[in-house]
Amino acid sequence: MRILVLGSGGREHAIGWKLKKDYKEAEFFFAPGNAGTEKLGLNLSINPNDPYEVASVCSELKIDLVFPGPENPLSYGVKDILEKEGKMCFGPSQSAAQLEASKSFAKKIMEEARIPTAPFKIYTLDDFKSGKLNPEKIKTPIVIKASGLCAGKGTFVCKASTDVQTALEKIFIKREFGDQGNEIIVEEFLEGEEISYFALCSNNEFRFIGFARDYKRLMDNDQGPNTGGMGAYTPVEYGTEELRNKIEKYIVSPLMEELHRRKILYTGILYIGIMIHKNTPYVLEFNVRLGDPEAQVILPCIKDNFADIVIQASEGKLPQRINSEGSALCIVMASQGYPDKYKKGVEIKIKGEEESDEFIIFHAGTKRDNGKIVSSGGRVLNVVGLGKTKYEAKLNAYNKIKDINFEGAHFRKDIGS
Ligand code: AMP
Ligand code: GLY
Repeated sequence: MRILVLGSGGREHAIGWKLKKDYKEAEFFFAPGNAGTEKLGLNLSINPNDPYEVASVCSELKIDLVFPGPENPLSYGVKDILEKEGKMCFGPSQSAAQLEASKSFAKKIMEEARIPTAPFKIYTLDDFKSGKLNPEKIKTPIVIKASGLCAGKGTFVCKASTDVQTALEKIFIKREFGDQGNEIIVEEFLEGEEISYFALCSNNEFRFIGFARDYKRLMDNDQGPNTGGMGAYTPVEYGTEELRNKIEKYIVSPLMEELHRRKILYTGILYIGIMIHKNTPYVLEFNVRLGDPEAQVILPCIKDNFADIVIQASEGKLPQRINSEGSALCIVMASQGYPDKYKKGVEIKIKGEEESDEFIIFHAGTKRDNGKIVSSGGRVLNVVGLGKTKYEAKLNAYNKIKDINFEGAHFRKDIGS
């Protein structure tokens, strides 16, 4: 079997790593991949966001299964195009991917299916221009979200009215998100504890994979700007059986039924950002893929053969349950200056990269340059500690990070604290 993973981050390295571990005979390809994935297979320099280019490479290389890591290829319809050509693609169709690509679509589905989410209103650019949306009438605290795909940068938690002005200016005046900011959601601010829920789905049936906790802010103690994610761990202390049951009864099942009612089939990963507010799980957002860096901790803990599960799910079958064991904790090492401007091409030195029972290193923004590994992105490496408990996993991750050096490396010291 020939498997192509789309994307180039730590998540995609982790996906390739787990699939290869469970399916040694398969041949692996990554588009475009990084300096870590090239140890697992062949990196292809094609644009993963162009479904036609992906389909044509799949024919040329006789690829049997495509696993898109990020949301963009899915929202551009890679699944639909590959399926038409008789290729297996583990991910949702373009219409199902709207759950992530359009927050207004997601909110309307939740309203219809009576899924708990923050009360909201939807406004358009025209509402802003015509004065129908009056920033002065918006009471804080409030959350403003650009509806489209904004790489995690389109959400503004506004504590003061000046924050409202700034958010609206970025979205509607400076047009920082282009057409992805043609609509906004203005929603109630919910106080509480956050958790990420992951399930694997096939034709609107689902199986729980696990909970993870991620760290979006750049600095310790949740200070500084939002990033793609600076660390994660699984399992989560407050991710109880009771919470899982509530999420499945009041969120996942009604969601799948509503999609079914709209004749939308969902196959792939479903990742839900949850806020536990007054003991009730509320949906903050739906994602149609694994998280980054959540995948780097969720996948190493899966005990079952993930390759089998993915292939079978692509064919409409799910196992009875998905079993996980142990704990994993990921620390992201980022370039100096990330998430703003940062230098690329910085040499990375790693002492002892071979994985062990205690750690795995997943590459993200790295590439090979004249035999050296150099940085090529904002988030550079993921150091994943493994253990029976979170405490052990954390100790192993922070121990291993001492063996990695590159100029300006930044990482949080409080992951798992
Ligand atoms: P999202 O883009 O919807 O995942 O939101 C990004 C982050 O903003 C979340 O992880 C939360 O920390 C915060 N957030 C989003 N929506 C709300 C809300 N309604 N109330 C409080 N915090 C929120
Ligand atoms: N870590 C957040 C995400 O992948 O969306």
